[in-house]
Amino acid sequence: MGLTIAQKIIKEHLISGEMTVGSEIALRIDQTLTQDATGTMAYLEFETMGIPRVRTELSVAYIDHNTLQSGFENADDHRFIQSMAKKYGLYFSRPGNGICHQVHLERLGKPGKTLIGSDSHTPTGGGIGMLAMGAGGLDVAVAMGGGAYYITMPKMYKVNLTGKLRDFVTAKDVSLEILRILSVKGGVGAIIEWGGPGVATLSVPERATITNMGTELGATTSIFPSDEVTRAFLEAEGRGEDYRELASDDDAVYDKVIDIDLSSLKPMIACPHSPDNVVEVESLKGTKVDQVCIGSCTNSSLFDMLKVAALLKGKTIKPEVSLSISPGSKQVLSMLADCGALSDILASGARVLECACGPCIGMGFSPNSGGVSLRTFNRNFEGRSGTADGQVYLVSPETAVAAALTGEITDPCLLGTMPEVTVPETFKIDDSALIPPASPEEAEELAILRGPNIKAFPDSKPQEDVLVAPLVLKVGDNITTDHIMPAGSKILPYRSNIPHLSQFCFAVCDETFPERAKAAGTSIIVGGNNYGQGSSREHAALVPLYLGVRAVVTKSFARIHVANLINAGIMPLTFKNPDDYDKVNQGDQLKLTDIYAGMDSGEMTLTDVTTGESFALVCSFTDRQKEILKAGSLLKYVAKEGK
Ligand code: F3S
Repeated sequence: MGLTIAQKIIKEHLISGEMTVGSEIALRIDQTLTQDATGTMAYLEFETMGIPRVRTELSVAYIDHNTLQSGFENADDHRFIQSMAKKYGLYFSRPGNGICHQVHLERLGKPGKTLIGSDSHTPTGGGIGMLAMGAGGLDVAVAMGGGAYYITMPKMYKVNLTGKLRDFVTAKDVSLEILRILSVKGGVGAIIEWGGPGVATLSVPERATITNMGTELGATTSIFPSDEVTRAFLEAEGRGEDYRELASDDDAVYDKVIDIDLSSLKPMIACPHSPDNVVEVESLKGTKVDQVCIGSCTNSSLFDMLKVAALLKGKTIKPEVSLSISPGSKQVLSMLADCGALSDILASGARVLECACGPCIGMGFSPNSGGVSLRTFNRNFEGRSGTADGQVYLVSPETAVAAALTGEITDPCLLGTMPEVTVPETFKIDDSALIPPASPEEAEELAILRGPNIKAFPDSKPQEDVLVAPLVLKVGDNITTDHIMPAGSKILPYRSNIPHLSQFCFAVCDETFPERAKAAGTSIIVGGNNYGQGSSREHAALVPLYLGVRAVVTKSFARIHVANLINAGIMPLTFKNPDDYDKVNQGDQLKLTDIYAGMDSGEMTLTDVTTGESFALVCSFTDRQKEILKAGSLLKYVAKEGK
């Protein structure tokens, strides 16, 4: 049986496991990337492992999220990351060099390589045929140390493209169309391969827009073939030697095939507050627009920006509309300046922002209250813009420009003829903001720069066979990672400061929890159904770890949070009989015995020492997870096993 592109890359990187759907597989990782919001913790974790230098082919630390430096905290984080990168063998991409995914695609990604990044849009690299996946900071730290990355072997979906996009219909509209077809859950457990004759009509930046938004489908990743278009892109970047051809076998088997005729697509728009809430732009025509934002890792390539400049040239945006443009990288901005396109953008009345994530993460340029904001970004969740009642729509750059010029949602096809846009055959290469690491000899002497915002990674202890601890907090159903560890711009600068964050742990449920947990030293939490739902935020496990939580016993868990708890060395356990939840009380002393045997048999006994009652608990750990818990955390396990 033939193989898909992803299966070929997996096969080349397989360390252990069977390539059958649903089995756990371990992959060798060639490249890693981090951004600053997740990077500080990843580097603290890496430091804890005690490995003198990264063991990947290439690792890069990007600064693109918290670039504002409105207090000392972000600046401290940047200095810490820069000193870590220099000492431990990573490239450091300075603030202003651009958004991680755009820069990585331009300068460092390679077809056929594996990449994990502590950012969910890492699959952007699939635009040049990488197997690129988003992961937790801890997974990235382990990969930097030479450890494997574990995933469940995904299903294979194929999107078969035919035809060619018409003027004013773009790769973004393809992304929105597949979200309309599959929904935000439609790609879960799958890798989406884009193929068919229509692929040859799409440039690398267009392909990267599509793989970037594959994240919104919940897919493990998305990937395009590496072909002559890829070769031309790499050659334009002066990296022709990085090219490698990659295609699926003719007899490759897919679990699902979806056909899209590019010629039949129309401009699409995702309505508030979900990327799959997609309709045709035409159906919303006339809706008043307050703000337009062009940029983000989805639509900030030179190709996108040149089209925007050409459409704005000689025109002025509506006085009632505020337009921001954030080029994706220093390369893009510099080339826009050199060819005069930047002047056309500025002359239209647009505000040009830094080459960074900016408005995408609510860092500046939030809409007015209740305002309608059209964005070329990938997410429009409620409140993400920084304005709680902002109405965010997701569109292509062309539809964004049409709205900025008319003041209302407008089908861009009505702008007339699409101006001719030519992307240069060679790009401007200037890697001066991509700082290489020190040599191993020089690195030995280097100190890590730690401002007061950089605190040590919380220590974890090996799980012993018996645990006696108070039930320090009992919560109800549907506790989210936001309940456990809230986010928000006031807390974001403290991602590397777990002691500070710990003051806010469960604050919305019980303000005195952090104090009680700290006083107890070791503790157990009890929860209802669906505990830990929401984001993959690892801080929702690391902060409880810091506060001494050793086990969480619930009626049921959300899947991703279970992995984060285990990685932090906290045992996730479930009541065999959910009614037993009602029989334990906050403040009771609890006891777990024969823990090791229970991990093997899948059943443990919990005794409520205060009431004298005993309850059966169930658990399901892989051999690897048992070893992680016994070691105390994933980091301790890696250090112990030398994995
Ligand atoms: Fe940055 Fe937004 Fe992409 S936060 S990495 S531009 S999704």
